[in-house]
Amino acid sequence: MCGIVGYVGPRPAVPLLLSNLRRLEYRGYDSAGLAVLEDGTIHILKTPGKIQRLAELVEREWPSRLRQGGSCGIAHTRWATHGPPTRENAHPHLDASGRIALVHNGIIDNYADLRRRLVARGHTFASETDTEVLAHWIGELARESDLLAALCQALRDVEGTLGIALVCASDPDRIYVARRGSPVVIGVGDQETFVASDPAAIVAHTKRVIYLDDDDVAVITPTYVDVRTIHNVPVSRAVAELEWDIHAAEKGGYPHFMLKEIHEQPESLRNTIRGRLDPAGGTCKLGGLAMEPREIAQFRRIVLVGCGTSLHAGMVGRMYFEDLADIPAYVEQAAEFRYRNPILTPHDLVVAISQSGETADTIAAVREARLKGAALAGICNVVGSTVARETGRGVYLHAGPEIGVASTKAFSSQVAVLLMMAVKFGRCHRLSSEEGAALVREIERLPELAARVLELNETIARLAERYADYLDAFYIGRGYMYPVALEGALKLKEISYIHAEGYHAAELKHGPIALLDPQTPVVALALDIPGRDKMLGNIQECRARHAPVLALITEGDEVVAGMAQDVIRLPRCHELLAPIPATIALQLFAYHVARVRGCEIDQPRNLAKSVTVE
Ligand code: F6R
Repeated sequence: MCGIVGYVGPRPAVPLLLSNLRRLEYRGYDSAGLAVLEDGTIHILKTPGKIQRLAELVEREWPSRLRQGGSCGIAHTRWATHGPPTRENAHPHLDASGRIALVHNGIIDNYADLRRRLVARGHTFASETDTEVLAHWIGELARESDLLAALCQALRDVEGTLGIALVCASDPDRIYVARRGSPVVIGVGDQETFVASDPAAIVAHTKRVIYLDDDDVAVITPTYVDVRTIHNVPVSRAVAELEWDIHAAEKGGYPHFMLKEIHEQPESLRNTIRGRLDPAGGTCKLGGLAMEPREIAQFRRIVLVGCGTSLHAGMVGRMYFEDLADIPAYVEQAAEFRYRNPILTPHDLVVAISQSGETADTIAAVREARLKGAALAGICNVVGSTVARETGRGVYLHAGPEIGVASTKAFSSQVAVLLMMAVKFGRCHRLSSEEGAALVREIERLPELAARVLELNETIARLAERYADYLDAFYIGRGYMYPVALEGALKLKEISYIHAEGYHAAELKHGPIALLDPQTPVVALALDIPGRDKMLGNIQECRARHAPVLALITEGDEVVAGMAQDVIRLPRCHELLAPIPATIALQLFAYHVARVRGCEIDQPRNLAKSVTVE
């Protein structure tokens, strides 16, 4: 989604803004722009399209005095919401005086009302955006008070989500920032300060960061950061140390972040489970959950909420909780959950799953659950993210930054965390220490299992060539392989643009089978775990309609191999672990299909890394 960067310090701002903005390219965007201050004037350039186009524009339009001179500026990548991706709608936006420039992530819900009021006072607008309305609103208030007070007042007036950065022509070495629901992080350097909506943009320069809380406003100079509430009362926010280093935000020799992150899974899984397995006690230690057995034993129901890939991880988790902990569990799309007025009690534990921790619908689901008195926990990758903070307790994935838009290593770590949680919960119910210890030993195998699947990379790449020209595909599975079918289909459609549907294998004959023909391949998840025998019948049904079948099977299962056109042979593993190797194989398959089709793998069209709007 949209990205914000800012810089104030002794170095020329323009090259820094452009290079930091490039580190946010992965988030998905369709226009870009920047503003720098020089000699009491704001200079702005913006364009539809990529950052490269903006860089060329800077080179063409701005004298070197400006390119190398200005030492305070802000920049933005926009993912269109209000109005198409045109130059006019790109950020930064100016206020009516032309002395305030603003970049904004999020959506101002009451912008139409504010716009009407501004129009009544004679304002005219150059764009269709809610952001320009906010810039004018701040500018209008700043006519009667200082800018900080005006900004605080404006934030009290607006409704919606925002992460903003603004510069003012009369404040040559200051950036003003604020957040409500959309992340803003401040990087504290040596006599210089950075701003970003995502630490990936600034980790190359500093690891010392300040995360703003909702409704924080901050004034940033090269040497200090002054944080206030929206009532203009000073508050102190700690400086934290970023966990990742610059290499984590680079491709490290891989052609795409997605491929790099798929290959990182042995390591990311190792980091997820490190220090959390207790073979002697037959359980898992999840300190961040901060739940005593007495509390766990009181939960009558577990509700897992999330979106997209995180939702699919939740579907796996649901089965873990029921199979291992005997606690009824259900999983729900976060947006549906928040709007359908769910019935919750203090005996319900709502677990919010989100890689970024910034997905708007998941955050809203957490708030709804809290309002209704349910217990909360979060499973997040991004430390200090909104979901992590609002749930108050939970488990971090420690999978390292996930830059590729298509989520890969986060899924396997989410599933691993859910399995560890279910073991821990199970031990408070009927799971014996022997059973727990056996499961812990299985979980220990996960990194090695992931590594073995990665050895299939070349084989899967060759297979992908055979499947790259189809227009449609089905993915089918049962039990633990049903969410994997959904996830495999999601990966394929989002990066290769092949229309893919994930279905429960039993559901096929209730309608979708009508679509099967020689042009519609079926990816059948037929590993040798419960459900495999029924899959044999489902594969036959597909073959009878002449659909090509690519089966994921367990090594040595020649029965299924003999029925399918093509097979991917996965190492034998425990049923509970199987979603992870199977999903890794499907991630590789989707990746290679997209590569053969020449798709923009790390920045698929229309997609954003974290969906911070409803
Ligand atoms: C798919 C994908 C998305 C995200 C979804 C939730 O590859 O990346 O479906 O899984 O937008 O994002 P998080 O987990 O950040 O809440």
